[in-house]
This record gives sequence, C-alpha cells and structure tokens, in this order.
Amino acid sequence: MTGRYEELHTRSISDPEGFWGDAASEIDWIKPWDSVLDSSNPPFYRWFKGGVLNTAYNAVDRHVEAGRGDQAAIIYDSPVTQTVQTITYSELLDLTARVAGALRALGVAKGDRVILYMPMIPQAVVAMLACARLGAVHSVVFGGFAPHELATRINDSKPKAIITASCGIEGSKVLPYKPLLDAAIDHSDHKPDHVVVFQRPQVTASLVEPRDVDWETVTAAAAPAEVVPVEATDPLYILYTSGTTGQPKGVVRDNGGHAVALKWTMSNMYDIKPGEVFWAASDVGWVVGHSYICYAPLLHGATTIVFEGKPVGTPDAGTFWRVIQQHKVAALFTAPTALRAIKREDPDGKLIPSYDLSSLRTLFLAGERSDPDTLHWAEDHLKVPVVDHWWQTETGWCISGNPLGIERFKIKYGSATKALPGWDVRALDISNNEVKRGDIGAISVKLPLPPGTLTTLWNADARFVKSYMTDYPGYYQTGDAGFIDDDGYVYIMARTDDIINVAGHRLSTGAMEEVLSSHKDVAECAVIGVADQLKGQVPLGFLVLKNGVDRDHAVITKEVVQLVRDEIGPVAAFKLAIVVDRLPKTRSGKILRGTMQKIADSETYKLPATIDDPAILSEISEALQGIGYAKPSMA
Ligand code: COA
Ligand code: AMP
Repeated sequence: MTGRYEELHTRSISDPEGFWGDAASEIDWIKPWDSVLDSSNPPFYRWFKGGVLNTAYNAVDRHVEAGRGDQAAIIYDSPVTQTVQTITYSELLDLTARVAGALRALGVAKGDRVILYMPMIPQAVVAMLACARLGAVHSVVFGGFAPHELATRINDSKPKAIITASCGIEGSKVLPYKPLLDAAIDHSDHKPDHVVVFQRPQVTASLVEPRDVDWETVTAAAAPAEVVPVEATDPLYILYTSGTTGQPKGVVRDNGGHAVALKWTMSNMYDIKPGEVFWAASDVGWVVGHSYICYAPLLHGATTIVFEGKPVGTPDAGTFWRVIQQHKVAALFTAPTALRAIKREDPDGKLIPSYDLSSLRTLFLAGERSDPDTLHWAEDHLKVPVVDHWWQTETGWCISGNPLGIERFKIKYGSATKALPGWDVRALDISNNEVKRGDIGAISVKLPLPPGTLTTLWNADARFVKSYMTDYPGYYQTGDAGFIDDDGYVYIMARTDDIINVAGHRLSTGAMEEVLSSHKDVAECAVIGVADQLKGQVPLGFLVLKNGVDRDHAVITKEVVQLVRDEIGPVAAFKLAIVVDRLPKTRSGKILRGTMQKIADSETYKLPATIDDPAILSEISEALQGIGYAKPSMA
C-alpha cells in the first residue's frame, strides 16, 4: 500500500497541473488562470498564466475580511531595543495601505523596482507588502553588505525608490545605514528618485532633500492605496544571491506560483494551522526571511515573528527559548549555525529547562548541512522532532524535507529526507544519466520546476539558461552534489561551484578573489572555504605578491581583510589571509582550490593527476600550519 506522501508526490510529477491547480484554490484570485502550467517556451515555464491576483491582498486584506483582523499578524521582538510589539492583521492592513499610498505618491507604480535596505524591524515586512500591494517589485538587500554590493544591485535593478532605516542594531553595535546607502548611491550610475528613511531613536539619519523623505511624514500624509491587480506571472520580487563572480544573480519570483506554493507548504511541510505562531529566526535579507518571515506565514493567516537579536549575547543563550515561551511559538525555523552558537555557550542545555517550551512542536533547520552533533543536541534538549530541510534562494521553498503535514518519515541523520511533492530530484553523472542509488552525483531537478521557484534572472535570461539549465539538459542544476539512498532520502554533501556557506550565509569565493586581486601588491590569489566549528565554513585567502613587493606580509594581509570588508561587507566574515610564493595548479593553469581546501581541513586527498608541480602542495601545507590549519599528521 502506498502512503499519502507517495500518492501526492507521484501525482505532483505525473499531473502537475491537477496537483497545483487544486492547491491554487487556497489563494484568492481576481481572475482565474488560463492554464495552470504554460510549457510553450522551455526552460521558461510559467505557472497560472492569465491569472490575476494580488499577493499582499492574499497575505493581509483577506484575513481581515475573513474576521482575523484582531489576530496578531506580526510580533516584533527586539531584545536589542527592549521592545515587544504586536501588530494585528487590521493594523498591518492599515500600515501597508498607507505605506503603499506614500510610495504611490512618490511615483512608484506597478512594475517599478524598490530596493529595501532594512534591519529586522516590522517596517521591513510592511515595506515588502506595500510594494506587493502596488505591484511594484521589491529587492531586499541584506544589511551586512557594503556600499559596493548595494551599488551593484542598484545598477542592476534600477529602483525608482529605496527604503531604508536610520540604523541597524547588531548585538550591542548600532550601525548607521544611511551613510552606507548614500555612498552606494554616489557610486551607482542609476539614481533613485526617492529614498524613504525610517528614523529609529538610536540614530537620526540626515536627509538629502528633496530626494530623501521621512517615512513617518510621508505615510501620515498618504491616502491608503487600493490593491493593484497583477498577472500571476508578473514579478513580485528580485532577490540577489551569490553567483560565481562579483556580479550577483537577481533571482526573480513571480506572484501567482509563489503564493500558491508557499501557502501549500505551511500545512503540508510545516504542519502549521492559521492562527498559530511560526518563527523563522532569519533575516528579511535572505530567502528564508522572504518566504517564512514575510510571505508564507501571512498568506496562511498565521502569526510571524520579526526577531531583532542574535541567538547568543542578546542577552544570553536562552533568548530563543524565551521568545518561544513568551509568544507560544509552534515551530522554529533556524540555521544550524545558530544552534551551534547556543550550544557553545550552553553545552549542557542548562538554560533550557527554565523555559516553558510546551508550545513548540518542531524545530526546522536549513541554510547549510546539519551536523549530526547539533541535531542530537537539539533533539535531546528540546525534545521535539528536528527536521532538516534543503533549499536555495532560487527555489524559494524547500526541495526536500520531512513533510510533517503529509506523512512523518523517520529521521536519518545527514539527510534532508525526501523530495517534496513538485520536485523530481535526481543525482546525475556528467553524461546526464542517473547514478546508482547511494552514489554521489550532481543533484538536479527534472523540469519543470514547481511553482514558486525562480522564473529567470533579472535582465539576464541567457545567464539563467547557462547557469541552471545547460549542463544537464532537461534538468535544473542545483549546484549541490550529493546522493539519494534506496529509500529516496536526499543527502546534500557539498557545492559543485565556488559558493561557500558561512554562518548559513551564501557567499562567493570568486567575488572575494575579485576584491583581493584589486589590491596593488597582489599578483594572484585564491579563496577557499575552510571548516569552522561555529560558522560551518569561513573564507581563507591565499595571496601571491607581485615581484619586488617587500612590504610586511602582516600589513598586506590586514589590508586585504579590510578591503573585503569594505567592498563586500562584514557578512563575508573574511578574516584569514596568508601570503604564499605560488599556488598549486593543473598543467592547464587551473588553481587546485579543492585540494587546498582538503589540505587546510586536514582531510586526506588524492594527488591530482594533472598537477603541474606537486611540491607546491607542501608549501601550501606549511603556510597553513602557520595559522593553525593543515594538521601535519593527516596532510
Ligand atoms: N547588518 C550589518 N552587519 C551585519 C548584519 C546585518 N544585518 N548581519 C551580520 N552582520 C555583521 C556582524 O555584526 C559581523 O560583524 P563583525 O565582523 O564586525 O563582528 C559580521 O557581519 C559577520 O556576521 P556573522 O557571520 O553572522 O557572525 P556573528 O558572529 O555576528 O554571528 C551567528 C554568528 C552564528 C550567531 C549568526 O551568524 C547567526 O545567527 N546565524 C544564523 C544565520 C541565519 O539565520 N541564516 C539564514 C538562513 S536560515
Ligand atoms: P541559499 O541560496 O543562501 O539558501 O543557499 C543555498 C545553499 O545552501 C544550497 O545550495 C546548499 O548548498 C546549502 N543548503 C541549504 N540548506 C541545506 C541543507 N538543509 N542541507 C545541506 N545544504 C543546505
């Protein structure tokens, strides 16, 4: 007898139109779609073509109309400002409509882009929803990025307006945002017409008039904006993510497929009912924040938490448990690195029993591979199922996981459980054939992708096809390597490109190499990700200096560390660099980054057959030992 999962998964693959057509009835449509799936122009598949809706209406207005107006939509919990604020669905509707009205008065209309550079305050979610209400396309940029990264996104998306706050608060540090934004605009070729600034009491940003306007002033004066109908296939947002170069990829999400898929996940993947409290302890700047702080919980009529704090230090390693107790959180979604940070401070979980965690049913983890130690620690101390699930910025929701609302599978440590309905996941060899179960391959998804996934890259259809749809014809290339076992469990092992994962944040080593190369003394460089007990991985740079450079190496490494911080931002967590005489390469000149990473992490490695000069590996090993990597016994 097949279980419910098997039945649903099979139907989703053999009859995607029937499956997602049914799921779409959970969304309110202004006009129904002409076709559930338009496959006329692969790989540019389109979901719910001809359908008209508004995402913000579905996330806010309809819950008020259905009588949920007094229910909490957002709980803002900010230990760094000692604030707890509840915003009901009615209040959220009023706020969103007024901010949308203010944006409209500033000239923002359907299809215009709006960049949001915001900390974790409810105004960030309100601004996203206000854009969606107008049919404008938001692009949220994570606060930890430097002006240069922000400028790249401004130039690519050409926003009509930018919304920001006067500052972010990182633990005990207050970080003024406006000077960073002003610098980014100065460096951009494109100039926004307006910047809307939410002034926080900690810092007052200076406004450049008439370009800059004050959030409170313009929203107080604004007439609430009505909902603007948009096509299901119109873009809802662009979210830039690391590619293999310094030019980030602008992942484009549509309105219709996104709303249908995310609403579906709330009951089927997360087993959450409308009215329950769902907490994604992430940041609105990341995809998890887009999907599970903002859109999915609200589309579902649940309560979402906007948490402005850190897992430790705000004030201690009990913060997460305090939030769960205080707001009766039913499901927590975070990254393993956050748990490792807590575990490091409170290894025996001594703080946990003093909190009432009886509301918590499940802990969901994603963003990086979950190490079994952390998983066991969480299970032992929280006494709830800990569910690892795998996803990407591009996919918008999880590709594989334990779909608790459908069928609960036994947890296998190291695996993100099974492909969710909608996902036909295969491990492929380089000839595009499936490898044997249990063998490592390129984890790929047979096209079409389900609704809610990327529709293209902003202004870059060719890059979209080349990056994801070319190497494995007929499949979406995830960029992850791994295997699928005999029971259909998916194991994600590593990236196949130069992306590294630092504290659950996705970063490109290629982008860091571009920055290092710009230093006047650097002739050549390589950046790899090395293992880190807290952050999973951290970047490490190797520098080969130009002939004749005789400056102190310590000064040069300090300068390049600062350069990466200035150009990419503190989020790069680039703190390690060493000077070496040469880099190991193949005879054709390709730098052997994979081998260097294995040496650094004291893993066994095979001497690459095509290596040009094996002696360089010993030089690398010696240099790494100088900074505490590449333990000699194993190299
Ligand atoms: N705005 C400005 N700066 C930011 C920032 C933001 N939104 N987020 C991070 N930074 C800064 C940090 O302050 C830090 O600066 P520093 O070098 O001056 O100390 C730097 O960027 C690196 O940040 P991070 O790598 O996050 O390290 P951390 O020591 O501050 O925190 C963790 C470590 C593990 C506690 C933290 O990364 C965490 O909670 N991670 C969870 C990740 C997550 O939610 N991922 C989303 C997927 S679910
Ligand atoms: P991002 O686009 O920032 O969400 O990063 C996506 C990448 O993070 C994936 O391609 C994986 O390499 C990694 N990742 C995310 N979730 C998991 C997981 N549960 N297990 C293993 N790797 C993961």
